[in-house]
Amino acid sequence: MAFIDEMIAKAKADKKTIVLPEYMDHRTWEAAVKIVKEGVANIVILATPEQAAEHGKDYDTNGITVIDPATDPNRQKYIDKFCELRAKKGLTPEDAEKQMMADYMYYACLMCKCGDADGVVSGACHSTGNTIRPALQLLKTKPGISSVSGFFVVEVPNCEYGENGRFVFADCAVNTDFDGAKLAEIAGLSAESFKSFIGAEPKVAMLSYSSYGSAKHDDVTKVQEGVKIAHEKFPEVALDGELQLDAALDPTVAALKAPESPVAGKANTLVFPSLEAGNIGYKLVQRLAKANAYGPVLQGLSMPVNDLSRGCFADDIVGVVAMTAVQAQMAK
Ligand code: ACO
Repeated sequence: MAFIDEMIAKAKADKKTIVLPEYMDHRTWEAAVKIVKEGVANIVILATPEQAAEHGKDYDTNGITVIDPATDPNRQKYIDKFCELRAKKGLTPEDAEKQMMADYMYYACLMCKCGDADGVVSGACHSTGNTIRPALQLLKTKPGISSVSGFFVVEVPNCEYGENGRFVFADCAVNTDFDGAKLAEIAGLSAESFKSFIGAEPKVAMLSYSSYGSAKHDDVTKVQEGVKIAHEKFPEVALDGELQLDAALDPTVAALKAPESPVAGKANTLVFPSLEAGNIGYKLVQRLAKANAYGPVLQGLSMPVNDLSRGCFADDIVGVVAMTAVQAQMAK
């Protein structure tokens, strides 16, 4: 079974409520119809009656819950929660209301925070930054986690590497500044994500252009520090580095470059040394190897909120909603 079909089957087994704030995009409605028909999740779309009538007119919206933030009886509860969460920033009720009404992503996150929804999927027509900023501000990280990061499940057809061609790649989406501690945290979260989503033991390679000190540069030192911290924090995880990508994946190269490594030649969880490397890396594999890349899925956030590519199809939204619902199941 393809990875995404496994996610859809899992999501159906214990239906969660996912909010889609982008009423203005036809792919939201198309995906919502499919999700509700197939019983993948309960769907809430945020829209006024006029917005729903205009953008949803070509779709059978039976079974989709449309909430109008302007008349929602929960609105005051969300304003109060917004002010409470942003009290240190001096947010006034007037500004909270304005922000929530101008950007439904805030409204959707507040629904989650107040227990009225289990997750949010957005980003078909908003940038990654604008999609995830409200989640970072309102939902915050899980206890003990300092940074949210973004991973992809990459499924490469006819591939002998990884877990039968399946990998987790991170961070491909969020952090622009990396140091050793952040790399170590991303490695720990990615190992957990691999185990939860792929259901196998993670073997984490912390990638570089150097293997075991073959090159000397601050960039290499940063990854080496990350490996050291990760070993201390997650001694139970099979993790190694710094490794070049070929040494991480290919047993023949691993035998030459890192023969003693417990991970080299069999890595299935790839931690990239920078956002450029991670973002470009997953797109290269997706385009050139015709791989499926599911994500970015946010890890380390207290509740599941996930971003979409602006080039996504309605079926991609169905997939990300299924993964978000599965994250919500895991959180319970
Ligand atoms: N983890 C947890 N919290 C964070 C993180 C993080 N990684 N980054 C920022 N925050 C919090 C901050 O602490 C702050 O909280 P506060 O308001 O309560 O103090 C809030 O989020 C806003 O932080 P800013 O520093 O103002 O950050 P900004 O809004 O400028 O940016 C963002 C944060 C959006 C994540 C930024 O780092 C970003 O744009 N990253 C790159 C996203 C991107 O373009 N990715 C590539 C495309 S994705 C793709 O191709 C699949």
